[in-house]
Amino acid sequence: MLFQKDEIALRRMRDDMYDYQLMAKWLTDEKVLEFYEGRDNPFPLERIIETYKPIIRGNELIVACIFYYRNVPIGYLQYYALNDLPETDRQLYYLDKTNNVYGIDLLIGETNYWNQGIGTKMLSAVIEYIFEQLQAVKIVIDPDVSNARAIRCYEKCGFVKVKLLTAHQLHEGQHSDCWLMAINRKKSLH
Ligand SMILES: CC(C)(COP(=O)(O)OP(=O)(O)OC[C@H]1O[C@@H](n2cnc3c(N)ncnc32)[C@H](O)[C@@H]1OP(=O)(O)O)[C@@H](O)C(=O)NCCC(=O)NCCS
Repeated sequence: MLFQKDEIALRRMRDDMYDYQLMAKWLTDEKVLEFYEGRDNPFPLERIIETYKPIIRGNELIVACIFYYRNVPIGYLQYYALNDLPETDRQLYYLDKTNNVYGIDLLIGETNYWNQGIGTKMLSAVIEYIFEQLQAVKIVIDPDVSNARAIRCYEKCGFVKVKLLTAHQLHEGQHSDCWLMAINRKKSLH
């Protein structure tokens, strides 16, 4: 377990069928795909294994995690140090410095858990973990401009919009704009 806080827990994704099947369930659900990967881009089991096995077994540039709410696995979260990304990926964020800057992506795959404040609780706990345990100075996240729920959730967690990233991602056949949102480590954290 990476951490457990109140009703929320986060653990690393495992190289086993249970986790692959969870991900395949979530990333073939049109309601989820509309906001993550795209409805024209589903990930059935074989593709999940092909995509996530190397991440789980690899050199951990990206840390893939499953998160729980009241002991039920409900979603996926990944984080990564921007400095570990290839130069071309890092440049997409237009940041002057990327030392100790982390990026996060997440989805609640069980859609009946949306809009209940769980994403905000989860992300707030992850922010605390990354700042305190990984000595991060900044965390960034890049929601599509049209994803109002995600943007609102991130603002509730303390992220602020920093820069409009034009045509940042290819989503359902369109190059769509995203907000670069960031949160800085509080000066009081050592
Ligand atoms: C984005 C996500 C993680 C947020 O988690 P969540 O638990 O649903 O979010 P919360 O309930 O904590 O907060 C959502 C906020 O957005 C608001 N909201 C919901 N739909 C909205 C909309 N269409 N427009 C504006 N605000 C909206 C909610 O009212 C709530 O704000 P409030 O507490 O001020 O009322 C989750 O919805 C999810 O996984 N969505 C699908 C995948 C996705 O979008 N991933 C993010 C890719 S960047």
